[in-house]
Amino acid sequence: MTATKGLEGIVATTSSISSIIDGVLTYRGINIDELAEKASFEEVAYLLWFGKLPNATELAQLQQQLGEAAAVPGAVIDQLKLFPKDANSMAVLRSAVSALALYDAEANEMSKEANIRKAIRLQAQIPTVIAAYARIREGQEPVAPKADVSVAENFLYMLTGQTPERIAVEALDKALVLHADHELNASTFAARVTVATLSDIYSGVTSAIGALKGPLHGGANEAVMAMLEEVGTMENVEGYVARKLENKEKLMGFGHRVYKNGDPRAKHLQVMSKELGKITGNLNWYEMSVKIEELVTGQKGLKPNVDFYSASVYTSLGIPRDLFTPIFAISRASGWTAHILEQYDNNRLIRPRAEYTGPASAAYVPISQR
Ligand code: SDX
Repeated sequence: MTATKGLEGIVATTSSISSIIDGVLTYRGINIDELAEKASFEEVAYLLWFGKLPNATELAQLQQQLGEAAAVPGAVIDQLKLFPKDANSMAVLRSAVSALALYDAEANEMSKEANIRKAIRLQAQIPTVIAAYARIREGQEPVAPKADVSVAENFLYMLTGQTPERIAVEALDKALVLHADHELNASTFAARVTVATLSDIYSGVTSAIGALKGPLHGGANEAVMAMLEEVGTMENVEGYVARKLENKEKLMGFGHRVYKNGDPRAKHLQVMSKELGKITGNLNWYEMSVKIEELVTGQKGLKPNVDFYSASVYTSLGIPRDLFTPIFAISRASGWTAHILEQYDNNRLIRPRAEYTGPASAAYVPISQR
């Protein structure tokens, strides 16, 4: 038995949700480029969950269900108020999603219908939790969600208490479409491993949030912004990149396990980054990002991934950088729950083997002789 480090290239499951073949990303067979231009996040969530695009009635029904489910139990808001004000926002989300299960009477109900209802509730409530904590830590009261607006609009509204600009809603909506699913990425795999024990959907999503938090995965978008802030100005870009490459340090937002010729989502985020930069009158983050890309791709052959330009996009939307990874979670909740539903539909315990590298045989030494 020989281990494959990081399971690279190992096909661990079948899935009909999204595919990356020859660098082309599709959700249920529809190219991401087309979805990014034409679909709303709610349409994409429906597509991921139910395997087809919704008709107008089905979409309206889903929007209504999401709106009605968006308020979280008061007990969970009370817990958010008890958390430290400087907690890691992904750790808060992980804890809050785990807590949401305690107040869901259907949490351990395993029928397909109940699991779909829970997927919709989770999708609706994750943005509410993130926005509520963001306000609570600033000493403000949470803003209750609206029942009749999109996930993107509701999130921005709950964050600020103001009706967001149309352009901001459209940009966030597109970012949510682009992040919604991505085959067997680490957090989705974590979710599938968890529920393959026939554990519940909340446990699966809690596992996934824990996996997304790491800087090699979703946490990279926050790390990209930290890098841009550290670089500060255009003049510092060359020296910064040279130092990083010389010290063989990772450049956040670059590289990908599956894409070697570039992540098809990055170009959409790059365009958005430029457009939003123009609107806000601050193209600094965008221009520094372009320069970093030129140098890293030119010198190391590494291309930007989804997390690279999303950092400047969210910054232009006025979102604090430690909410970037939670926003990834808002979007990916749709993919995680679609994969969880698929796992339940065709389940087998996920239990691979390890290549043992310890001693072949060792004697037990009594404690008095150690
Ligand atoms: C996401 O999997 C998904 O689908 C994830 C995702 C999704 O939608 O779910 O696409 C979202 O997680 C995007 C990735 C975000 N992470 C980062 O931006 C962190 C920086 N990137 C890397 O750490 C890295 O590229 C990974 C983690 C994304 C991929 O890791 P791999 O496949 O294990 O690759 P590796 O670390 O073995 O790197 C191979 C080579 C190494 O060089 P050599 O030792 O062979 O000389 O490429 C180099 C690495 O050092 N390399 C980098 C680099 N990424 C790879 N060198 C500098 N900076 C980088 N970012």
